[in-house]
Amino acid sequence: MKKIVVFTGAGISAESGLKTFRDADGLWAEYRIEDVCTPEALARNRALVIEFYNKRRRELAQTEPNAAHKAVAELEQWFDVEVITQNVDDLHERAGSTCITHLHGELGKLRSMRNPELIVELEGTEQGLEDRAPDGALLRPHIVFFGESVPMFDRACEIAATADIMIVVGTSLAVYPAAMLVRYARSGVPIYVVDPGEPDTRMIRNPLHHIKERASSGMAKLVEELKR
Ligand code: APR
Repeated sequence: MKKIVVFTGAGISAESGLKTFRDADGLWAEYRIEDVCTPEALARNRALVIEFYNKRRRELAQTEPNAAHKAVAELEQWFDVEVITQNVDDLHERAGSTCITHLHGELGKLRSMRNPELIVELEGTEQGLEDRAPDGALLRPHIVFFGESVPMFDRACEIAATADIMIVVGTSLAVYPAAMLVRYARSGVPIYVVDPGEPDTRMIRNPLHHIKERASSGMAKLVEELKR
């Protein structure tokens, strides 16, 4: 069975109603990264950072996976599929994908401020300001902030290197190291980019096919092509 590695970003969840980050109506037009998505922001203004992620969770609770998430899950009928996502939502899980690596963390989890390995599931959508981990330390969102290392990146590179086909959906390829992942596909492995915009594909050295469409229609076409 051929192996497909699907690498996704905020664009795959856009048609579910979640905002991307860098589009004109994106989250980084509304918020400053340094106010809500850095370790310094958490130290300086814990309430603002925690409310930002609680808001993301409330939005996520109102959304459903869209046709693109479902198409990715459907690929498992014909291929060995691993998903690597930069997204902190759980829409791939809810669409039925079985093998998912989250590079930038998960909204549904919190972790101890003292011990990054002490990760707990959050019940519901609200992290309380004073919520504590089992080790007594304050909890923080289980999110990779700007300026922090990306612990899952090495594992993601190993997965990328196993691909016979790589599909990149809905990411501007603007954030590192995540964007480097496309370099870990073996030489000659085709890379399909599904994105209605102009992601930064300069890093891609492999045969590149840009399907310039929204994730739902682009993935539907690509699944048909790959099945043939
Ligand atoms: N279908 C597919 N792609 C879409 C759609 C859609 N319906 N709508 C927008 N896009 C594309 C945009 O053209 C853009 O290339 O999704 C991409 C979104 O890019 P970003 O907003 O930069 O999101 P992403 O690449 O996931 O960001 C990477 O930055 O701040 C962070 O940590 C956060 O994981 C995130 C990282």
